[in-house]
Amino acid sequence: MDRKSIIHEPEYGNKAEAFEAFDDIPTNPNLSNTIGDVINARYGRRDVLRGMLGVSATTALFGTSALVAPGEAAAATASRYVFDELTWGNDERHHIADGYSADVLLRWGDPITADAPDFDVMNQTAAAQLKQFGYNNDYVGFWPLNDDPSRGVLCVNHEYTNEEVMFPGLGRQDRAGFEGMTKELVDIEMAAHGGTVVEIAKGADGKWALVKDSALNRRVTASTTAMSFSGPAAGHDRLKTSADPTGTTVIGTINNCAGGMTPWGTYLMAEENFHGYFWTDVVDADGNPDISEQPEAASMKRYGVPGRWYAWGQYHDRFNIDKEPNEPNRFGYIVEVDPFNPDATPIKHTALGRFRHEGAETTIASDGRLVIYSGDDNRFDYQYKWVSAAAVTEENSVFGSSLLSEGTLYVARFDADGTVDWMPLIHGYGPLTAENGFNSQADIAIDTRMAADLLGATPMDRPEDAQPRGDGTAYIMLTNNSRRQADQVDAANPRAESRFGHIIEIKEDGGNHAATQGTWSILVLCGDPEIAEVGAQWNPETSENGWFGSPDNCAIDTDGRLWISTDQGTGWGRTGKSDGLYALETEGDLRGHSKLFFRCPVGGELCGPYFTPDSETLFLAVQHPGTDGTKDLKGFERDSTFEDPATRWPDFDPNMPPRPSVVVVTKDGGGKIAV
Ligand code: FEO
Ligand code: CA
Ligand code: CA
Repeated sequence: MDRKSIIHEPEYGNKAEAFEAFDDIPTNPNLSNTIGDVINARYGRRDVLRGMLGVSATTALFGTSALVAPGEAAAATASRYVFDELTWGNDERHHIADGYSADVLLRWGDPITADAPDFDVMNQTAAAQLKQFGYNNDYVGFWPLNDDPSRGVLCVNHEYTNEEVMFPGLGRQDRAGFEGMTKELVDIEMAAHGGTVVEIAKGADGKWALVKDSALNRRVTASTTAMSFSGPAAGHDRLKTSADPTGTTVIGTINNCAGGMTPWGTYLMAEENFHGYFWTDVVDADGNPDISEQPEAASMKRYGVPGRWYAWGQYHDRFNIDKEPNEPNRFGYIVEVDPFNPDATPIKHTALGRFRHEGAETTIASDGRLVIYSGDDNRFDYQYKWVSAAAVTEENSVFGSSLLSEGTLYVARFDADGTVDWMPLIHGYGPLTAENGFNSQADIAIDTRMAADLLGATPMDRPEDAQPRGDGTAYIMLTNNSRRQADQVDAANPRAESRFGHIIEIKEDGGNHAATQGTWSILVLCGDPEIAEVGAQWNPETSENGWFGSPDNCAIDTDGRLWISTDQGTGWGRTGKSDGLYALETEGDLRGHSKLFFRCPVGGELCGPYFTPDSETLFLAVQHPGTDGTKDLKGFERDSTFEDPATRWPDFDPNMPPRPSVVVVTKDGGGKIAV
């Protein structure tokens, strides 16, 4: 496909993409802060306004690493990732670099408990789905069992559902009416959300497989899993509902996007687009939600509640804000699950704040404290990090640890001089007082976005995953922001109408992830380097296969190397490339050099990635195959439905729709990946 001929505004082929695009109207009222006064001092204003960076700016971007790591800069001239890169493209199948295998491990509907029924896609029920692998696998985490590298628990988030390819005869669902939707289907959707914990083991053939009779296997869902709250908002009046007059318990978790594993092996699920699940029957003359009479109206407006992406509120009162106005305050948190104890009640840790948490990647700082990076995935929202009060010890390395409730949540301000300031979201600090509506730390935990607004955090180009490396370095994925205007660009978000995103590297002061200040630089500006108006910046050695758009998830392998997976959504036609996994060099002369390792079947985004501790296995999650932008697939050129999907990956069974699945990558003959 000729990429240059297909740079256009995509149409939206499925509900979730459409609602994300339309709903994702910035809710940040602080946008005037980004205008003018924060135009980057390091880049010329004219360059920024043109959306292009000149040669001198390139030097500024790529120069920082040489300052940070001069020894390695001189040494590294060959790629540290040993594999022959894949050729770019987009078709019905997945592809992996030569010499590697990518085997499907778990698919939507796979029975995951000993008593689970086989998947019957034409007769699916909520009861069956509760014991089967959920939909739209996003985060993947792994923890070895008993230090045995060939056995472990796999933890997988199920972010959302695509009804048009899940249910026969239904077609696309949207807030225009949800035609054909029923309570039975809603209940299947709710059961397909949440997470999965399963034991897996490597067989004599070197292939990983589900241990179906393991007592550890369980689903965490939106409809059945009771959870508790910890932290400052637990028990607060704003968390109380008719089902929970104490404000201390809640059923379920929703829109679990990326996540993390704690250093002690518990599983963190990030609740991202929770606003989309809430409903109201009160609408204005144009049919749009009217929340003006809601007691929580200001907060709801800042969070985009109610999004009405799903019909759940028509069948379950708690998702209808007319009936339960506090229910939205109980979502948007980081949820901790103990994968080693199926009876342990998951905990929503309110101290880590409430926003559209993309992920929750953890590290132990050089001073011993726990640090968790988490982005707020909305156009013009913020990057956060949590720092525990105490250092990590053997005693507090437990499920429900106070390390996740006692500490400080910070929000980032990226200054034009290349410093990043982490500003504490503490009641009483600066403007975070009762005069401004923050009566206690609970209000900051619930209205984290509004507190961050008052501190003057930097509105970013949709912070997706953020990955600390443990040495004080962190990588921030900024996926894209088509709504940033030329007069809203700043140093850390230097392109207007950024359609391909960029990646920021943070170096925390003293190599300490708990530091309250550090320096930042732009690692890459994504998109096609051959199209001048895109303004992309890659290492010039990057081939036409290696550059990408819309970084989303990321991982650091055991050699400290960075891997990026992409989610271009319906806009993939702008690059012509499927989503995939890329090896992105961060050090030396090849800093900013990218190589393609794996690519998705059409319409899917790539999630995970997660390396086992021995780096011999890489878990990837192919989410919503066959859905996004299928009109741009040459030869197909129409929207996907259950009956007529763009791909039937991974089964290629004429009676089976596409199924989101976790893929296991191993090197043929064994050994560490890309070594
Ligand atoms: Fe669920 Fe921000 O991706
Ligand atoms: Ca994501
Ligand atoms: Ca995404």
